Amino acid sequence: MIRAQAVIDRGALAHNLARVRALAPGSRVYAAVKADGYGHGAVTVACALDQADGFAVSSLDEALQLRWAGIDKPIAMLSQQLDEFVCNQAGEHGFELVLFHPSQLAALEHYVGPALKAWVKIDSGMHRLGFAPNDVDEVEARLAKLERLEVVGWLTHLACADEPSRPETQSQLDVFARTTADRSGLRSIANSAGVLAWPAAHADVVRPGIMLYGSSPMCDRDAASYDLRPAMHLSAPLIARNRIAAGETVGYGATWRTPDAMDIGVIGIGYGDGYPRHAPSGTPVLIDGVQVPLVGRVSMDMITVDLRGAPNAKVGDRATLWGNGLDVDEVARHADTIAYELFCRLTPRVRFEVV
Ligand SMILES: Cc1ncc(COP(=O)(O)O)c(C=O)c1O
Repeated sequence: MIRAQAVIDRGALAHNLARVRALAPGSRVYAAVKADGYGHGAVTVACALDQADGFAVSSLDEALQLRWAGIDKPIAMLSQQLDEFVCNQAGEHGFELVLFHPSQLAALEHYVGPALKAWVKIDSGMHRLGFAPNDVDEVEARLAKLERLEVVGWLTHLACADEPSRPETQSQLDVFARTTADRSGLRSIANSAGVLAWPAAHADVVRPGIMLYGSSPMCDRDAASYDLRPAMHLSAPLIARNRIAAGETVGYGATWRTPDAMDIGVIGIGYGDGYPRHAPSGTPVLIDGVQVPLVGRVSMDMITVDLRGAPNAKVGDRATLWGNGLDVDEVARHADTIAYELFCRLTPRVRFEVV
């Protein structure tokens, strides 16, 4: 009997990419597969997304993992510092650099290896990475002197695109448009929220991540309403069904008490698998076709659930923690986090299967 299992659905990934194409028909798509494909397996995801125009990763290590697996599309490294080794590797493997800090320009000015391609990141208001708009003329002038470097385009990142009513997004779009006016090269702005809610942000290249995995980044709409499908189905077996008397407590810390004599189910997944320890009582779990609430504390190998609503659930049945039938975003809301984190924190103990 398999314990915690994550089934990765390549068809869902391809379908979600098709949704990106339908929403942003004029844009190339660089699929964000950083952090091991948001916990789904970077190579698995990149192979399933063979219709993408390129990929976005965080670091050189992540870029190399894809190239070594035979992925020959453009790969942009979003937050990689530069030194001689990194530049040489990027030149050799054709990785696209993202320039966001003067220290990177200094490294490029000493570089003598194979030709490089780079995006320049502009800080349009998020104030995390990127050159200040007033510095971009000088950056462009410095880059123009580098014979081995081609500037592919200009890039920025949106801080609040997941909340459609926030004014910051339009202001970022304005700053980026002003700063890039009259410069040659591609433009890239949109993450998933930009793809879903900000057509003006689509530009030449979109960089969706979370929507490809079937989660909605938007605060006001769920994934199904955008016709996105879950790419991960996380399940675990019911390993015990126990009758507990009324007024007894369940689990570590005795934090939850049975209101009646009732059946408690024990499911073989816990924080040792990456299920969030801080998921509170009430977090939904799907078993035998019904959602039942988690009760008591999450432990390393197990969670406990209230089975009063699932009279027919029996030992050996598989429960769904998220995926088909249980939206990961709903689980994330209960656990006071986001689907991105739930996906990324799964541990090697979870058995992955690709369908
Ligand atoms: C620069 C950049 N672009 C694109 C993305 C993809 O974002 P999302 O997963 O919200 O679509 C990220 C993710 O954090 C990012 O940092």
